[in-house]
Amino acid sequence: MTTASTPAVPQTLQPFLAKPKQLMINGQWSAAKSGETFDVFNPASGEVVAQCAAGDAKDIDQAVKAARKAFEQGPWSKLSPSDRGKLLWKIGDLIEANNEELAQLETLDNGKPYGIALAVDVALAADMFRYMAGWCTKIQGDTFPITVPYAPDNDFHAFTLKEPVGVVGQIIPWNFPLLMAAWKLGPALAAGCCVVLKPAEQTPLSALRLGELIQEAGLPEGVVNIVTGMGETAGAAIAAHDGVDKVAFTGSTEVGKLIIKAAAGNLKKVTLELGGKSPNVVYKDADMDAAIAGAASAIFFNQGQVCSAGSRLFIEEDVFDDVLAGVGDIAKNMKVGDGFDSATEMGPLVSKEQHDRVKHYLDAGKAGGATMAVGGGLLDRPGYFVQPTVIANVNDDMKVVKEEIFGPVVTALPFKDDREIADRANDTDYGLAAGVWTKDISKAHKLAKSLRAGSVWVNCYNIFDAALPFGGYKQSGLGREGAKGSQAMFTEMKTTIIAREPRKMPRMGMAAE
Ligand code: NAI
Ligand code: MG
Repeated sequence: MTTASTPAVPQTLQPFLAKPKQLMINGQWSAAKSGETFDVFNPASGEVVAQCAAGDAKDIDQAVKAARKAFEQGPWSKLSPSDRGKLLWKIGDLIEANNEELAQLETLDNGKPYGIALAVDVALAADMFRYMAGWCTKIQGDTFPITVPYAPDNDFHAFTLKEPVGVVGQIIPWNFPLLMAAWKLGPALAAGCCVVLKPAEQTPLSALRLGELIQEAGLPEGVVNIVTGMGETAGAAIAAHDGVDKVAFTGSTEVGKLIIKAAAGNLKKVTLELGGKSPNVVYKDADMDAAIAGAASAIFFNQGQVCSAGSRLFIEEDVFDDVLAGVGDIAKNMKVGDGFDSATEMGPLVSKEQHDRVKHYLDAGKAGGATMAVGGGLLDRPGYFVQPTVIANVNDDMKVVKEEIFGPVVTALPFKDDREIADRANDTDYGLAAGVWTKDISKAHKLAKSLRAGSVWVNCYNIFDAALPFGGYKQSGLGREGAKGSQAMFTEMKTTIIAREPRKMPRMGMAAE
């Protein structure tokens, strides 16, 4: 592992950074009612780069009321699906037109390498808005040829309508700040909802810039409201607010459970995209070069801060040493540094808190007798850097194998035959994703079918697209994002039955004459 230099923050960000970072409520930018702010850090240096308004329950309440008004009275609800689609498409265009600035903000705020932010985060965010723009005109119900046993003339017309669920609260994490905003906003707006979005306190900047672009696109006021603030205050207030019809959350399983509890008050609908401890299975008959590179990328992409990270690497016994050495070589030679250095392959973790959390797991691994085959420590430089780490000599019950680390740390586990592997891969509370590497396609099919995971990648890993559903089995979540399935997240279904002639209903019971 080598470390790269620390370039200056790009000058092109100065105009945006110089502006106050306020809340966007009802089309207006304003400070938090409390006047409080919080610091935003550059994770590559630990320096403060901005101060953001710290919204709390009072600001959330104002934002929810603005969203309700826009939903019930505003021009948004009267807009044709086609016009709604045009606006979403325009947001996608504006993201693309400002892609370099948005990618720079992601690097500054989250730490990820600039090239990745540009090619992955920003490109996928633009794509999600455009993909969802197409759905605006295609969110439709069904008609039903009904057979009512006690109304044998069957003179009815029955159909379903899919209607926007209403005011939606969206709480997003810091690992893909702009992309998670797009994953949440795109489908909700396509369905005709109005939104209160709360970015993660670690990475609020790109969402605020997106707010400006949403205004530039011409979305009516109050349709999208953005309230920056802490999880325990602003986030919890969204989850508990009676004026919110639905909450969509991405983050930790722990907070996902708190959201379900808070949502019980008004039984708001809930969808959750939570953690994972995904198995990545390499058979001895895999294309070894591809499998080794794939296993490394499955864990080191985004500094390992990916809910679907391939963090349990199962390797068939005969090739265990080779794969371990291959992944280890990649880890050893990885260029770790500032995301603005074009040579950087892996940036810092997002925050001091995440840095401490990963260190805690590395210490637990060592204390438990695991071997740090490569890495295993923090980098001795400012910022929140961790060495790319490969852990061996572990068993399935160790803390580092059981719990989500959310850092560049993979545990390598040998397996003997393919009868045990599905059980071991499934021996987790999570079920978000999995990988399979083999040239034997029927073996791949068989294992893919046995895995209790929302996404299975065969001979590839972390392939995302707006057209693909994404979400988790078990404690990895509720619901699916992206694709056609996300309509269900943001719509209610109304069944309407119309008698072709006014019916004379019997006074008692339902039997017809
Ligand atoms: P978190 O779940 O606390 O934060 C995610 C979002 O939830 C943030 O916007 C935060 O402000 C908000 N939040 C926090 N507490 C809340 C509450 N009581 N009510 C409503 N909203 C609340 O995640 P955190 O603490 O940043 O990271 C902890 C661990 O969570 C990570 O180590 C990782 O294992 C997991 N995680 C998973 C993510 C995923 O993509 N599934 C993303 C981020 C974290
Ligand atoms: Mg937290």
